[in-house]
Amino acid sequence: MRKRIVAGNWKMNKTPSEAALLIGELIPLVNNDNVDVVFCVPAIDIPCAVELTKDTNIRIGAQNMYFEDKGAFTGEIAPDMLKDAGAEYVIIGHSERRQYFAETDETVNKKVLKAFEYGLKPIICCGETLTQREQGITIEWVCMQIKIALLGLTPEQIADVIIAYEPIWAIGTGKVATKEQAQEVCAAIRGCVREIAGDAAADAMRIQYGGSVTGDSAPDLFAMEDIDGGLVGGASLKPDFGRIVNA
Ligand code: PGA
Repeated sequence: MRKRIVAGNWKMNKTPSEAALLIGELIPLVNNDNVDVVFCVPAIDIPCAVELTKDTNIRIGAQNMYFEDKGAFTGEIAPDMLKDAGAEYVIIGHSERRQYFAETDETVNKKVLKAFEYGLKPIICCGETLTQREQGITIEWVCMQIKIALLGLTPEQIADVIIAYEPIWAIGTGKVATKEQAQEVCAAIRGCVREIAGDAAADAMRIQYGGSVTGDSAPDLFAMEDIDGGLVGGASLKPDFGRIVNA
């Protein structure tokens, strides 16, 4: 049985002092040991988030990192900085990073490999645009993203990866994929991982659905066979996140 994992992606929201207030509000609402609960907060909020959640079931993640160890990369954040600050997870290749910051499948792969070097657990994002869905190429597109993202990883590492399937048309739009649409793609992702890394990795690897998840839509989505939790944007900043975790 795969343990469910629900992660909040706070995006570019909440100053450190606002983060402290929100975390205080959410701690009692997400207290559920049957689920891995992760808050992926802005980098500057990580130290206070780690401190405030240290005796709870909540783990802290970052939303991005660079693929080099250190050096002249003004404005970037290195994996050991995240690790030293107490982050355990890192979102890699979110569609907003791909769209606004020119990330590619190749940089995603470099970041995933680097995350493993430093013992950070990657949450790798993939997903199609509305045009791609309408053209009927969703599955090929997403499987290609995943195959490139996982290049060079061992089956043991792949078993530890978290994949977030996030249709771009569903992110921040209030237009959630149907449970059948989400299940179809998550099953295809698991099938493609089975081909490249074998049964053990495919059966262990956790796949999240993301895109306008709320407390109302979460129970149906999370009941699907290949959906092991969610990556949640807007609703992760609200008490509704508690309902999602407990779904
Ligand atoms: P949303 O964002 O829940 O606000 O749609 C999800 C995400 O971008 O991870």
